[in-house]
Amino acid sequence: MAVQTALVTGGASGMGRATVARLLDRGFDVVIADLNEEVADTALTELAQDGAGERVSFVRTDVSSEPDFEAAIARAVERHGTLDVLVNAAGVGGAFGPLTDIEVEDWDYTFDVLLRSVFIGLKHAGRVMRAQGTGGAIVNFGSIGAQAAGVGLQPYSVAKAGVEHLTRMAAYEYAPDNIRVNAVSPGIITTPLIGLTEADLQPLLGTVQPLPVAGVPDHVAGVVAFLVGEDARFITGEVVTVDGGIMAAGPQLRDLVNNNPALRGYVGVNRGSTGVKATIHKKLDVAEGSR
Ligand SMILES: NC(=O)c1ccc[n+]([C@@H]2O[C@H](COP(=O)([O-])OP(=O)(O)OC[C@H]3O[C@@H](n4cnc5c(N)ncnc54)[C@H](O)[C@@H]3O)[C@@H](O)[C@H]2O)c1
Repeated sequence: MAVQTALVTGGASGMGRATVARLLDRGFDVVIADLNEEVADTALTELAQDGAGERVSFVRTDVSSEPDFEAAIARAVERHGTLDVLVNAAGVGGAFGPLTDIEVEDWDYTFDVLLRSVFIGLKHAGRVMRAQGTGGAIVNFGSIGAQAAGVGLQPYSVAKAGVEHLTRMAAYEYAPDNIRVNAVSPGIITTPLIGLTEADLQPLLGTVQPLPVAGVPDHVAGVVAFLVGEDARFITGEVVTVDGGIMAAGPQLRDLVNNNPALRGYVGVNRGSTGVKATIHKKLDVAEGSR
């Protein structure tokens, strides 16, 4: 099979950078489209040391600009012959503060970088992939912020909700051309974007985040590599949450609702308001705070 080409936005840093490494390992030629030339230079140097050579290159791109994004895609095709995969990983935290105070231009900037960019990428990658006639795979970066209000910044989270639904819309529209469109929805991942170290995350591990390991870029990059690969060839329109179980755990009201902490450590059945008493089968030898 001919070598395939992937364009990764935000590929200079964090999860985009980890995705670039994964895709190079899988045999793709990769073009990094990012705004930060300095960080991209460092990434290219490191990747060259790892043996990537001419298989990886950088195009300075502002993904919120249609001419920039279109030119980056054209450059990838010119250099490598095809565009087979697009990963929309570029992102910023964007506007913060109460809704009553956020400046409209900061709201717009956030949406431009996070959502308008994904539309532009889908538009131009879709055109190129459709014309090639050999299908394709696109992965967008959502966020668990899209799924609940108590997770992240408001404009960021709403834009990411847009990205996740745009993923489904594009998957539907592009399916006849065998162009698959999926998303990853990361939880808390130690990247320059959130500026937290694995040590900072320790209090959350095993509590807010059920899995007791800190999220690192490669956790997400591996899922992206799966979604663009052969084993995912029947998956489209899917948003895969990669969060160590944060959203599965939900608001963690178990002690408050229908789960008397006094019963922690017992096994039995509560028969509600039927008038029949609860049955306790046994007491376990478990540590305080266990589930
Ligand atoms: N880190 C997390 O915990 C987390 C959680 C959920 C979702 N995400 C999302 O994952 C994606 C990757 O984030 P990360 O944490 O790896 O961040 P990061 O800051 O390490 O990398 C993001 C990259 O995007 C680039 N970028 C920003 N604006 C750009 C623009 N206008 N044009 C081109 N490139 C631009 C930056 O230069 C940077 O290289 C983002 O979409 C982010 O919103 C991150």
